[in-house]
Amino acid sequence: MTVMFHSTLDDPAEWVPRLQALLPGEDIRVWPDIGDPAAVDVAVVWIPPEGALASFSGLRAVQSLGAGINQLGMQSFPPQVRVARLVDRGLTGMMTEYALLAALRYARNLDAHERAQRASTWDYIMPTGVGSFTVGVMGLGVIGAATAMRLAANGFPVCGWARTPKTLDGVRCFSGEAGLTEFLGQTRILVNLLPLTPQTENILNAGLFDRLPRGAFVVNMGRGAHLVDADLLAALDSSHLAGATLDVFRPEPLPEAHPFWLHPRILMTPHVAGTGDPDSAAEVVAENIRRAKLGETLLNEVDRARGY
Ligand code: NAP
Ligand code: GLV
Repeated sequence: MTVMFHSTLDDPAEWVPRLQALLPGEDIRVWPDIGDPAAVDVAVVWIPPEGALASFSGLRAVQSLGAGINQLGMQSFPPQVRVARLVDRGLTGMMTEYALLAALRYARNLDAHERAQRASTWDYIMPTGVGSFTVGVMGLGVIGAATAMRLAANGFPVCGWARTPKTLDGVRCFSGEAGLTEFLGQTRILVNLLPLTPQTENILNAGLFDRLPRGAFVVNMGRGAHLVDADLLAALDSSHLAGATLDVFRPEPLPEAHPFWLHPRILMTPHVAGTGDPDSAAEVVAENIRRAKLGETLLNEVDRARGY
């Protein structure tokens, strides 16, 4: 088996020795030193090198180094190529931590105190605690479900929304278009953890914001293309929304002139909410390389027709 590793974020010096130790005898090559492209059986990538996968004529599987897979360009893969997203306890833990941090920052008015400090203003706001800040989690998959549970364990009232019905301890679950309005109506902090598909692109738009209570907050940890930037700016500028925390953007990096950078009610981070931890994730990736070799279904294999 020949495996090609490439990432602009994940360090091959961290990953390749771990993979090699788990897969003695397999040939793991780091882009661009891959030899004959036709020999590559499995590509382990965050974003594939431009045009490269088309020359991998023997490709059996693509393992994403991210939980999301929209960045792979999988529409162009031949139908027999299996695709797996990354499910890793390190990544999931970091994502739940980021959501908790963002929710606590709003629940304890830190965003308002940051603005007051910049204006040298002693602005006393009576703290109310987390119990009055219902968090609504969009997407109840691996990361969304873990996030909802972690928020609930920290005292937040939590509701969640997914495509199909779910049952989660301590979380009021809603599903489908029919459940969306009721879900949004009780959400004070909206956390987006949806995958990017044609159905979810632009889902964070004016029509959705209008269904949130006045003064709600938005935390986008999914993908930049979930959000209609102009609609967020309008909702913040009209004070219908009180703030937003954004980890993902369209495009990335966000151009310097974009109005998000200097907006007083937007906190931005450069797509750092969660990353795979090679200590835990290498085992999952190695198992999928073994499965690809045997022609078996991969762990966390993507339904290519569904798009996630
Ligand atoms: P996942 O396990 O595949 O879960 C996806 C969830 O979204 C499922 O609950 C699914 O509902 C729901 N969903 C999909 N399409 C929907 C629709 N049209 N309407 C309502 N719900 C829908 O994904 P995950 O591992 O939790 O990851 C979620 C996303 O987080 C990734 O795709 C990626 O975009 C993002 N992410 C971002 C970072 C970062 O650093 N910012 C890091 C990791 C992941 P069903 O279960 O009913 O199908
Ligand atoms: C990061 O964005 C991921 O999809 O894991």
